[in-house]
Amino acid sequence: MTKIVVSRQIPKDYIRQLEQLGEVVMWEESYEPMPRKHFLQELKEATACFITLSERIDQEVFEAAPHLQVIANMAVGYDNIDLDLARQYGVTITNTPDVLTETTAELGLTLLLTVARRVVEAERYVQNGEWQSWGPYLLAGKDLHGSTVGIFGMGAIGKAFARRLQGFNTTVLYHNRSRHDEAEAELNEQYVDFDTLLTESDFVVCTAPLTDATRDQFDATAFSKMKNEAVFINIGRGAIVDEDALVKALKDGEIGGCGLDVLRQEPIDMNHPILELPQAVVLPHIGSASEQTRNDMIQLCVDNIRGVLNEGQAVTEVKA
Ligand code: DGY
Repeated sequence: MTKIVVSRQIPKDYIRQLEQLGEVVMWEESYEPMPRKHFLQELKEATACFITLSERIDQEVFEAAPHLQVIANMAVGYDNIDLDLARQYGVTITNTPDVLTETTAELGLTLLLTVARRVVEAERYVQNGEWQSWGPYLLAGKDLHGSTVGIFGMGAIGKAFARRLQGFNTTVLYHNRSRHDEAEAELNEQYVDFDTLLTESDFVVCTAPLTDATRDQFDATAFSKMKNEAVFINIGRGAIVDEDALVKALKDGEIGGCGLDVLRQEPIDMNHPILELPQAVVLPHIGSASEQTRNDMIQLCVDNIRGVLNEGQAVTEVKA
């Protein structure tokens, strides 16, 4: 018997497709993850599993699921999954690349402009009834045009972000573990070392995945090298940033502002000191959250499960 566990509520259309493959057990909550104990219990007989970033896939999971063939992760990032163990246990891991690239880049640009032009502060100012008159420097922010933008991570999302900057008359620098000659030519961007990216950029945008190499990349030293007016944007992963160092850099005026769509701990603890800083904008990890893209991500997960169960071949397998 084929059993498919789905760890969040997803629309019926997709469940119907999965039901063509086997029995489907779906957690009926859209905004709350399946409790761990329940998840492990359901996995005992499972052949396939549809998860989100909220599920940590470790030894305990693989031990609990002796029949598991495939885990479809509804995200392009897969730092929630121990890939070495997956290989050891012979479980195929899939992700959702490409379908979310443009949407995530759009959110990155939205966040950058929101911080640069102090949009959240301005909106609160109106809502709080503080708008009494016009002032020459009232809520004056920073221009994107004419600035230097440094992109850390030049994968698909980094490139889509750089493409969007082309209409803004900016100088684009990037740093990545490898150079992309084609992107440099097409997007008129310049490869620089990490220190140069930090010291030269007015906006530093992290689009990188979390790996052993990128963990804590943005630490106190990195922030101290950035311009005092610089804005830091993170649409990659929270653990790439030392958040204590970021808060200190903002408080000490070492950098000018930040926009985070990803955090080390999600959801954020409401006592997190960054929430008290007006120059910081924090979003609840909505990079890929357009309706169309979320539909596309779910469909790709379904296609991946179908591919593995029917043909032994995923559409987008994560290769470690
Ligand atoms: C991803 O796909 O990794 C994103 O962070 C989820 O929105």
